[in-house]
Order: sequence, then C-alpha cells, then structure tokens
Amino acid sequence: MGVGEGKQGKGLMVKGWAQRYLNLGFVAGFLLVLLTYIVVSQQFAITSPEAVNTMTTPHRKQAIQAPAAGEAGLTQEAQGEETPEAKPQDQQQPDAEPEWKQPKDTVAKEEETPKRDDTAAKPIDNGKVVCTTEGPFSDTCDVFGDVRTNGTAHTVTLVPATETESQEWKIQPYARRGMSGISEFTVMQLDSTSAASPAPACTVTHRVPAIVFALGGLTGNYFHDFSDALVPLFVASRRYGGEVQLLASNIQPWWLGKYEAVVRKLSKYDVVDLDHDDQIRCFPSVTVGLRMHKEFDITPELVPGGVPLSMVDFTAFLRETYSLPRAAPISLMKDISPPEDQEKRKPRLMLLHRGHYRKLVNVPEIVKAAEKAGFEVAIADPRFDVRVEELARSVNSFDVLLGVHGAGLTNAVFLPTAAVVIQVVPYGNLERMAKVDFGDPVADMGLRYLEYSITAEESTLLEMLGPDHPVIKDPESVHRSGWDKVAEYYLGKQDVRVDVDRFAPTLALAIEHLRQK
Ligand SMILES: *[C@@H]1O[C@H](CO)[C@@H](O)[C@H](O)[C@H]1NC(C)=O
Repeated sequence: MGVGEGKQGKGLMVKGWAQRYLNLGFVAGFLLVLLTYIVVSQQFAITSPEAVNTMTTPHRKQAIQAPAAGEAGLTQEAQGEETPEAKPQDQQQPDAEPEWKQPKDTVAKEEETPKRDDTAAKPIDNGKVVCTTEGPFSDTCDVFGDVRTNGTAHTVTLVPATETESQEWKIQPYARRGMSGISEFTVMQLDSTSAASPAPACTVTHRVPAIVFALGGLTGNYFHDFSDALVPLFVASRRYGGEVQLLASNIQPWWLGKYEAVVRKLSKYDVVDLDHDDQIRCFPSVTVGLRMHKEFDITPELVPGGVPLSMVDFTAFLRETYSLPRAAPISLMKDISPPEDQEKRKPRLMLLHRGHYRKLVNVPEIVKAAEKAGFEVAIADPRFDVRVEELARSVNSFDVLLGVHGAGLTNAVFLPTAAVVIQVVPYGNLERMAKVDFGDPVADMGLRYLEYSITAEESTLLEMLGPDHPVIKDPESVHRSGWDKVAEYYLGKQDVRVDVDRFAPTLALAIEHLRQK
C-alpha cells in the first residue's frame, strides 16, 4: 500500500525523485512493531494531541487506550530487541558527554538543586521533600538527602538525619497525571526514630542524582514521545550533564531503543528497569516524575536548577545528539552571491503527506505551487519505518516544513533554527488546538510559524456532508456537543484540498522570511 503510494509520487517529481522522495517513519523499530503502532497511532491521532488541551474527558479516554500501545510495543520487541541496557558499555557513543559537563565532584551537590519555592521545607542537611501537584499536567516530588528507592515496592524513601514527622505522597511519574496503566509511587519521609518504619539498608549506593519517570501512557504517538517524555526528560536531566541515573517505570524497551541516542546523551548510565529492580538504591537526591510545562514546550523560568533552558536549547541538543549539520536555513540574501549561484540554490520545502485521514488530496498541485513560489519540493510519507537518526538528518536538510495538523509536524524539532513551519489547519475551528500543539512550540523553537486555515470549500467534508450539515454550517455547535464529534469529523473524516491560489501568499511569506535571514 505504502509502496504503491510511493510510485504514485514518482509521477509528481520532475527528476531525482528517488532521492528526494523521503519515507519518514513515526516508529523506528521492527516492521511488526511498526504495524502494531500504526494502528495505535491512528487511534491516538484522532484524539491526541488535540484532545488534551481542549478538555479533560477525551484525555481520560486516551488514557484507557494507552497501555495497549506500550504493551504491544513491549511484546513485539521482547522477541530479541536490543535494549539500551543490554548493550555493552563500549557501544556508547564516544561523544555522549556534553562539553559543558560539570566536574564530577560538583554535580548533584545538594546546594545546587533546591531552587524552588520551598521555604517551609526542612533544612537540606536533614533532607527534605518538595512536591508540586499544582501544575497543569504533572505531579512531581524532589527528594533531597539520604534517599532510597525500592523499585519493586514503588517506594522512594527519605531517611532524615534527625527526628521528623513522617509524611507520604503518591506520585504517578508520567508527565500527564491521571493516566491509566502508570504505577503510582509512594514518596515517604520517614520518622527516623520510629522502629515501626526502619530505613531499608542500601544495596547500591549512587553518587549521582536520580530521576524516576514512567514510559507508556501516550508514548508511541510521535507527538507524545516528545511532548510527554523527551522534552520533560530533557528539562529534568540536562543540568546534570549526563551525571544522572534514570529509573524507568513501565519500561518500554522499544521506546528506549528508538530514542537511545537522546537518552544516552542525557545520562551516561544505563536506564534501570525500576519495576523489576530488587535493589535498595541510595541517592543524594531523587526527582520523582516528569514535569510538563505546556504541550510540546518548555517554560524557561520553570526549568529546575537555575538553568533556563528553552525549546531552542532542546533543538540545539537534538542537533548535537544526531550530528545534524544545519543550524541555520538557506540564506537568500540577494546581493551576497552572484545571480547564477542563486539560481542553483533553492530553498527546500518538505511536504508532509499523511497516508490516512487529514491527508492532502491534491499533492501534485501543491507541489507545483510550491515550485512556482521558488522551492525545491520533496514529499515525505510519514508512514514508513526509518530510524530517528535518518529522519532527523533528512528534515534538517530542509528550510520549510509543510503539513496538515498532525504528529508529523513534530519533526520541526530537527529543522535548523529560523527555518519555517507551515501548518495547514483543517476545517472546523481548530485554530486554538493548532496553536497550542504546534504554533507556540514551533515559535519557541526559534522557527517562523505560518498557519493556513482552510475554508469549507477546501475540505472534503463539504462534498461528503453537503453545505447544510451542521458540521459545515456551524462548527461551534459541533464543539459544544463534545469532543467525540470534533474528533470524528474534523480530525477523523476530513481530507484537505488546498486552494493553491489562496495558499500562494503563504508560500510567498515563507520565501520572504528566508530572504530576510
Ligand atoms: C522492597 O519492598 C518490598 C515490599 O515492602 C520488600 O518485600 C522487599 O524486601 C524490599 N526490597 C529490598 C531489597 O529490601
């Protein structure tokens, strides 16, 4: 099926289509895993990422489907998949250490960590627990002092140096609270003098801090891989310069395999499968849970440790991780290069071609319009299985990413800074969702964001339902009726026929932006 589509693509491309026709994959793994995941991602794509911003009910609904994703992946990959943990040390990337890594003896120093509003907490030399449950998405606890984990028991225990009141918190270490299939962890502050709660003896002592996080949930959807896991993990761990122990609950070997390069760049140590860890591990500090600030985004002021990281830093980190060559897009400044050179150097536009719903039905026309605007165009089919490294490299070679609202736009993270993203927003008052999921994050990555909202005339819903159907006539009423219909019609049953004349100014804006660079 996919191959057939590929051949169809051949007709559109003038020359060298084989090189330019890119098969992009949501999932880098084995084919079986991929197939499983396509099914799952399709389910997710209808309800997420969109659902989560708009209302709580659909969010819960996704959560019910979520464990299936994780389990499917795990089962398939369990048949001989190499997990990062299974790899010998010497297979680690030689460049796994960031240049700005601090000297070992200053990492995880207790004074560095507490930068948050914790004035009421106990002094550090007695240990302390700082929990945050007020955020829009996540619940987390930072535990400082003599901290001990019992993975099988799902406990993180602070052993205070002197007598304190015992206290307990329950935390799901996934970045979105309330997800099903995510184990709860008990964070305990012991009353050290109480014989009833004796401190478990350390069987392994770590000199570095630890981060407890959960996989599964909505991961497996490319957007959520970044929004719910990779970005929050970056926020939580980057300040340690690799000197941090990751403890994964609900571990998904396929996921760790897919994003191995990123995970290894964040931590020099093999990820521990916490649910099956029969050790008592002792740490100078442990963060339980990942913190998500916004969808697929970072609020620099909320980054712990006094290091105000942003999405620009995240994309720079990915470029470093995957050795991506381009940090800036093509320069189209008129007077710099002679005209004959300019002829040769065209800005490159990647057209994301979704294979299922919300697909572009007039790709050849759009390609022609983009070429007329001055772009060299390549069609990317996000259904195919490629390694993230390859995907990252190919996306990085482009100056513009164009696609209908969907997980494929997550690939913006691999674009050079100041490149352009054009999001085509399907019919049905989806602009807010489009902005929250991609518009704001993309702008925070230092990219130029352009939005093209289609009219009813450009939607296949019009011919499917007729002009008098409420889905066409009154999108607000559909939104009022609840998420289900929004997902069913606007996200699930709609394809897009871009009116290339109406779209031309957006393409011109993209070129204009690259000229100003
Ligand atoms: C972890 O906790 C469980 C349940 O309380 C207990 O049975 C087990 O012995 C503990 N593990 C270690 C290594 O002490």
